[in-house]
Amino acid sequence: MAKNRIQFICQNCGSTHSRWAGKCDGCGEWNTLVEEGTSGGIGSGPGKMAMRKGRAVALTTLSGEIEDAPRIQSGIGELDRVTGGGFVRGSALLVGGDPGIGKSTLLTQAAAALARRGNRIIYVSGEEAVAQIRLRAQRLHAADTSVELAAETNVEDILATIDTKPRPDLVIIDSIQTLWTDAADSAPGSVTQVRAGAQAMIRYAKSTGAAVVLVGHVTKEGQIAGPRVVEHMVDGVLYFEGEGGHHYRILRTVKNRFGPTDEIGVFEMSDKGLREVSNPSELFLGERNEKAPGAAVFAGMEGTRPVLVEIQALVAPSTLGTPRRAVVGWDNSRLSMTLAVLEAHCGVRFGQHDVYLNVAGGYRISEPAADMAVAAALVSSLAGIPLPANSVYFGEVSLSGAVRAVAHAAQRIKEAEKLGFKQAVLPLGGGELSRPRNFTLTETGSLPDLVARIAASGPGKNAQNRD
Ligand code: TYD
Ligand code: MG
Repeated sequence: MAKNRIQFICQNCGSTHSRWAGKCDGCGEWNTLVEEGTSGGIGSGPGKMAMRKGRAVALTTLSGEIEDAPRIQSGIGELDRVTGGGFVRGSALLVGGDPGIGKSTLLTQAAAALARRGNRIIYVSGEEAVAQIRLRAQRLHAADTSVELAAETNVEDILATIDTKPRPDLVIIDSIQTLWTDAADSAPGSVTQVRAGAQAMIRYAKSTGAAVVLVGHVTKEGQIAGPRVVEHMVDGVLYFEGEGGHHYRILRTVKNRFGPTDEIGVFEMSDKGLREVSNPSELFLGERNEKAPGAAVFAGMEGTRPVLVEIQALVAPSTLGTPRRAVVGWDNSRLSMTLAVLEAHCGVRFGQHDVYLNVAGGYRISEPAADMAVAAALVSSLAGIPLPANSVYFGEVSLSGAVRAVAHAAQRIKEAEKLGFKQAVLPLGGGELSRPRNFTLTETGSLPDLVARIAASGPGKNAQNRD
């Protein structure tokens, strides 16, 4: 006969264990296992409360009446694109980000924009007092809208408040970490409370058809604080990111059940709130020092949109036994790979040099298409030869040293042309797609070919050009 089980749940990652341990096997965190519920779950056998007999639910067809447009658009282009065309009715969206990054600002602006379009919006804040929120709304010129406001943290009270007619179009809960429910007896902010609170809000969204946005704080490690389980429960997860010292913010889709997951929205934080940046390339290119060696412009793609960004490399003689390799904004192991390919196939030696790689403006690149731009920047820095300032680079490098074609070549070239660049170094075959006038396409089949080209434009030739 099965006995009631005691289980231990990790407060960090939510994994369950049958025995207590100091360290969670799931995430490696210490002292995070807590004893929880003794319910044996489904089929725990006799001795348990008699199980309720199931009630048949009405089956229905795929086609049928849908009451409203399934999405509500804010008219803030960068936000609507990231959500895949607007907030989806009946869905729950999690917006994560560091404290102070601008989540409340973004959602206040979105709430105001939606309210101006005739939607009923409820903003529930558990973090700030009504006066604080009003102050922010005044600063954002959102105070004159019909957004309804409450400062509350109890889940039952919130549900009673928002369960009114007409049904709200969007409910914003700021933040999920402040929610607590009578049903669970642990402290607010603990895994059990956050999970129960999120579950109640998701159930509300599904049953009423209102869109729900949950705000979540992110820990130092970059995860939504407390349970990662909330990420699995919601329909979409957006991260709001930014670098200290920079004014721009990137809204990135991590999960989306109703749209693409590779979109970004770019904003700039000003004294009047967040401003859309519809041409991010101009932002990431910033002020360039065009004569300095070690800088290459990468023509990248973010979802459906091309983004140009400068890659900066510094290769300096090392005094250390094991030279340093440091990367900001790119993948560490991809840098090692690119260095190895340059050493093995192109005879470029980095063994005695420290290598630093930085993506300008605090931007993060995840595309392999950046390989060629990185290689060009590295070689340029090592040789002390500046790359042509009017050139962009893209192409994936394979371990054999060959340069492979990447998707969306035509779009990348078009963006470069639009921003005044005059040439592109790209993989073989890329130039057949589009040939803009007054724009040179240099097809490069292999990395040794690229290195030879950079070397050929070396100081001797440059000196002649300068005269
Ligand atoms: P906030 O939205 O409160 O952050 P979060 O909700 O993610 O914790 O944003 C706080 C920061 O934004 C704060 O440092 C001040 C800055 N800010 C501006 O620069 N301009 C503005 O108009 C507003 C409202 C905030
Ligand atoms: Mg906030």
